Order: sequence, then structure tokens, then C-alpha cells
Amino acid sequence: MTDQSATTGVTDRPSDGDVAGTAARSAERIREHLDGAVPATPCLVMDLTAVRERYAELRAALPDARICYAVKANPMPEVVAALVELGSSFDVASPGEIDLCLEQGADPAAISYGNTIKKRADIARAHAQGVRLFATDSEADLTAIAEAAPGASVFCRVLVANDGSRTPFGRKFGCTPETAVRLLGRAAELGLDACGVSFHIGSQQHDAAAWEHGIAAAHRVFRGAAEHGVRPRLVNLGGGLPAHYTDAAPPLTDYARRIEQALDREFGADRPELLVEPGRRLVGDAGVLRSEVVLVSPDSDGERRWVYLDVGRYNGLAETEGEAITYRLRTSRDGDPVGPVVLAGPTCDGDDVIYQRTRYELPLTLRAGDTVDLLSAGAYTASYASVGFNGFPPLPTRCIDGHERP
Ligand SMILES: Cc1ncc(COP(=O)(O)O)c(C=O)c1O
Repeated sequence: MTDQSATTGVTDRPSDGDVAGTAARSAERIREHLDGAVPATPCLVMDLTAVRERYAELRAALPDARICYAVKANPMPEVVAALVELGSSFDVASPGEIDLCLEQGADPAAISYGNTIKKRADIARAHAQGVRLFATDSEADLTAIAEAAPGASVFCRVLVANDGSRTPFGRKFGCTPETAVRLLGRAAELGLDACGVSFHIGSQQHDAAAWEHGIAAAHRVFRGAAEHGVRPRLVNLGGGLPAHYTDAAPPLTDYARRIEQALDREFGADRPELLVEPGRRLVGDAGVLRSEVVLVSPDSDGERRWVYLDVGRYNGLAETEGEAITYRLRTSRDGDPVGPVVLAGPTCDGDDVIYQRTRYELPLTLRAGDTVDLLSAGAYTASYASVGFNGFPPLPTRCIDGHERP
């Protein structure tokens, strides 16, 4: 990244209007709140208005799809409650996330247990709570579902390429389409409702065409299953829709168009039910993480300064590993002349470096006590923070709503 404006201020990129607009308005509302409230740092502030805007945009872009918010992206109760109010469903991965959704008023029928890795006891608990939809990708998990959640609906996750994703999944989840056909057949034999196929094309996916592979794979599974008398009806499009970091992604309309085209091409008039599991898309741009500069010191190369923040890899910025996610920054000294920096976290750990390969330039006047805001930091920050590595507590969070003022 070389564009100086992208490193030091809020950037509204015309090519990415929908994303930039929401992100910029939300960042401004949160700045007003932070400037009045002056909370201890680091601190993540979520703007519920932006979450609602994002939900409405997605509703409009994919009007037929059931939206299941992926709770892991940001499990703040206020965020979940706001989405319950809007009629959202929820993608959960654990008993804790199920309890959270139910406590915030979600209907158990609106919960999809999307983790393919789960204990039998947790499946039974979810079933007793009324959860009826489960993901699977293995015989052992399927058997556990059949025993602990008799009669439940299951969809099978297929493994698809994650090219274009800033944070790909690797090979941890999903099976081949051939295995999915076999598992759905087995599900039917076990008395389960073999309802569909899911895939995840990798988070922060910048290639709007990526869903085409998943939809084609899902169609192969539908065809193969039908040959065995099993008729799945649901395609779960997973997550992957982007937030607004330093490198702009295509607008949401591009993703929706490519998805629609692929559905038409593969399924034609036999259109399946759709489900989508946005995490980052709904909450990423709704959050600002305020941090404080702890120390500024010159590098031994004499060219760059090290800027140490009170937030780092272990208390909120896990997604900067490999510099995969590059947040836009705003400082209390924006407008002053800038120079290159390495950004690092506060712990006594050599890996707690935020950006050293990615070129960031920050004001030369920056010093201890100044603030650095990480914009569009609402997803996978607080939820990824460690319990307290090195004595640094998990990231405190708060919400603002509507016209609330500090
Ligand atoms: C099963 C599943 N669905 C949805 C998501 C959300 O993905 P994203 O935040 O890219 O929308 C994830 C994220 O890890 C996931 O594991």
C-alpha cells in the first residue's frame, strides 16, 4: 500500500461507494462518541445503526436468501439483539453462541449450528433447546447428529477453492462433492432431513466470481443425490462478503449479480432455497477500535519509526497475522507531515508486530498518548482477543445507537 491517504485518514473510494459510505458515516459517528466519552484504551466501539444499514443492504441485494449472521464475527449481545429485531437468523459454532442468541430473543428455529466439529453432548443440548439445522462434513459427525438430534435437518459442507480470500480456510472444513452425495444419502437412511449443501469461499473474498465454484459444486451434489433418491433443496452460500479495509473490494451488487448468474446457469428454473452467513459484512464497517500510542522509537535502520500501540495481535488484532487484514487508520495528529512506520503491539512477544511489510505512513509528530483509530474493525477483533495473554485484558467493547450522545 503506497497511497498516503489510505494510511492516515478515512478514504471514501468512489469505486466502492456502498462500502465506503457506510464505513465513513459510522467512523464519524463513533469519533463523535469517543471524543466525548474518552474511554480507556484500547476499546472497540460498535455502531448499531451501521449494522442495521448493512443488514438492509444485504436484504436488498439477495432478497431470496435467509440471512444467518455468523455470530463469531462479533458476539456483542447488543449486536445480536439488533439483528434479532430485524428478523435475522444466526450461524453459530458452540453452545455458548446458542445461549447468547436465545438470551437475545432469537427463535431456536432461526439458529443454524454451522460448525462441522461438535461434541455429541453439544448437539444434544442444541436439539433440546430447539435447534433443528446442523452442518456436517463427515460420517462420524453425521452419526452423532442422527443419534443426538433425531430427525434434524442437515446440510453438507463441500470444500471449495478460497482464491481471492484475504483469510482463507485451508482444508479444515468441507468434503468432496462425491462424499457429500454419500453423506446426504446416509443422512436420509438415518432418518435425517438431508436438506442441502454449504460452502465457504474464504473470508474477505475480493473475487466476486468465487461463489460460482461453490454453486457449481452444490449443483453437482444435488444431481448426484437425486440419482440416489435424495432431493436436497437448500444452498448455503456461506460468508466471505467483504468489509472496507485499505484495499477496496468490489461493491455488493457485483457479488449479488455473480451469485444470481451462477444460480441461473446451474439450477435454472429449479432454483434452490438460499441461505447466506455473513459475518464480517454486517459488523466489520460498524466498528472503530481506538488505541493509544505507548511509545515511538526509531528503527536501527534509521528510516522508519516503530510505533507501539496499546492494542496488538493478542488483544484484538489477530487478523493482522500475516498482514492479511490491513485496517485503515486515523490518528489524533492527522494533517501533519507523515513518514513510514512499523506498527507493533504492546506485549513482550516478538510476534506481536502488526504491520512491517505493509507500508503505513503516520504523522511525524505522533507520540505517546496520541490516539490511533483502526477503522472498520468491528469483525474478528474483540471476538479473537485472547483471555489475557501477557496480562493484557481482553478487548473491552461498547455500543452506540441512533442519536445517543455520550
Ligand atoms: C461456517 C461459517 N459461516 C460464515 C462465516 C462468516 O464468514 P465471513 O465473516 O467471511 O462472512 C464463517 C467464518 O469463519 C464460518 O466459519
